[in-house]
Amino acid sequence: MKKLRLNAQAEIPILGLGTWQLSGSECQSAVEEALKIGYRHIDSADGYGNHQELAAAIKNSGLKRDELFITSKIPAIHLEHQEVLDSAHRYLEELQTNYLNLLLIHWPNSSIPIKDTLSAFAQLKDEGVIRAIGVSNFTIPRLEEALATNVEITNNQVEFHPSLNQADLKEFCDQHQIVVTAYSPVGRGEDLDLPVILELAKKYEKTPSQIVLNWLISQDIVAIPKSANPKHIQENFASTEFALSAEDVAAISHLDGHNRLVNPGFADFNS
Ligand SMILES: NC(=O)c1ccc[n+]([C@@H]2O[C@H](COP(=O)([O-])OP(=O)(O)OC[C@H]3O[C@@H](n4cnc5c(N)ncnc54)[C@H](OP(=O)(O)O)[C@@H]3O)[C@@H](O)[C@H]2O)c1
Repeated sequence: MKKLRLNAQAEIPILGLGTWQLSGSECQSAVEEALKIGYRHIDSADGYGNHQELAAAIKNSGLKRDELFITSKIPAIHLEHQEVLDSAHRYLEELQTNYLNLLLIHWPNSSIPIKDTLSAFAQLKDEGVIRAIGVSNFTIPRLEEALATNVEITNNQVEFHPSLNQADLKEFCDQHQIVVTAYSPVGRGEDLDLPVILELAKKYEKTPSQIVLNWLISQDIVAIPKSANPKHIQENFASTEFALSAEDVAAISHLDGHNRLVNPGFADFNS
């Protein structure tokens, strides 16, 4: 599995398992299945309430901690300096681990100075509690504010799929050595019926999901599809095993439907 460099201590596998809306035994089974198939990257968040299920699945897998890449996220309401420190330590207990590979600010919060939040992230990294620092749902202006603190931002996890192609944001991230992770990479299922995707699935003898995920991966965008279905988990894992032609990558890139699916009331994508 290809990995992308975040910093001297962390490389992120280009495909991971998303776990939003996975809880209880369904979550534990999905993660166990994914780890059995070969996934080594699991995306979680405090807000998903599933750290303990992840810990149980990891324990049952028998895998060593250093074989895994675990991401979690701190919610926008807990971004005061001390809250960040306390939250990260609680996550370690819930996940039964002594470090996180990547910790993200889940959503920006303009009422808390970003330098206060990021200084706590930097402290956690210095202490070895986390290996890499990142953000999520950050627009270019928000990233500029974060970068102005001089804390090393290695990752921006944003909604990205054929019908929401955030190419400008990707270009900005490339210029600043920030790896982009695509959340809702198959458009929560919606992008799997797009005519271009269906045509390419036929042409390559792949599934629509494999075409969409390969489009992301081929641009060095990390993809974290969520699935509770073993067949889909397997199918998504195999999306790294072929290559779309440059022409077909471009055909998908031209779709750009501005179809944003995750847009909670508190979000502000205009600044
Ligand atoms: N940072 C953020 O604010 C944020 C926001 C949203 C999501 N995320 C992260 O990104 C992950 C993925 O995003 P998402 O869950 O919104 O959407 P997604 O991964 O694009 O789509 C998930 C949906 O697609 C279906 N699916 C998955 N693989 C499939 C396949 N091969 N064939 C057919 N259907 C398939 C799943 O159903 P089945 O379960 O039945 O397969 C599920 O209904 C989340 O789980 C979470 O970890 C982060």
